[in-house]
Amino acid sequence: MIAIYPGSFDPITLGHLDIIERGSRVFDHVIVAVLRNPDKSPLFTVQERIEQIRRCTPHLSNVEVDSFDGLTVEYARLRDAKVLLRGLRAVSDFEKELQMAHTNQTLWDEIETVFLATSNEYSFLSSSVVKEIAKFGGSVNHLVPQQVALDICRCYTETHPGATPPTETNPTTQVNHPRMDREV
Ligand code: PNS
Repeated sequence: MIAIYPGSFDPITLGHLDIIERGSRVFDHVIVAVLRNPDKSPLFTVQERIEQIRRCTPHLSNVEVDSFDGLTVEYARLRDAKVLLRGLRAVSDFEKELQMAHTNQTLWDEIETVFLATSNEYSFLSSSVVKEIAKFGGSVNHLVPQQVALDICRCYTETHPGATPPTETNPTTQVNHPRMDREV
């Protein structure tokens, strides 16, 4: 059974990775599908996000990373997938997710949305929270894969050329007063 895990992934968090890893144990094949959304101004380009997800999923042989635009169900149909995988963090997610699942089913009655409960340790975590913390100088090393934390720090140093970027051997470098120009 093929499942699509659609999302913005701007950037991928440890909560997303948890859903991908657990989804890969449930389904034969999981396609992580990054939405190309012209209405948003993301921190990372679609290509950067695809590479970030690929870099943290090499151990998952049945996971593929792709991008799509338009309706998720049309992409699912194209990929011969009848399951949409989504993570549920808290009750606050439920209303939006249920609406999305019902809407998708009106668009294609063969599609099923399967929710995995996000692991407790990531129940507060979202890409927006990560960007908010980074924007105000906090460390996000405990919230995103290591490479992504480096990318976020690089975004900061792009706007602050004098700052010392973190290195592979010292990824825990804390950014003290970043002012990333991009929107959270
Ligand atoms: O990571 P996100 O931003 O919560 O993901 C939302 C996403 C991409 C799953 C949702 O916005 C989506 O499916 N967009 C594609 C357009 C679509 O199919 N809309 C109909 C369902 S509401």
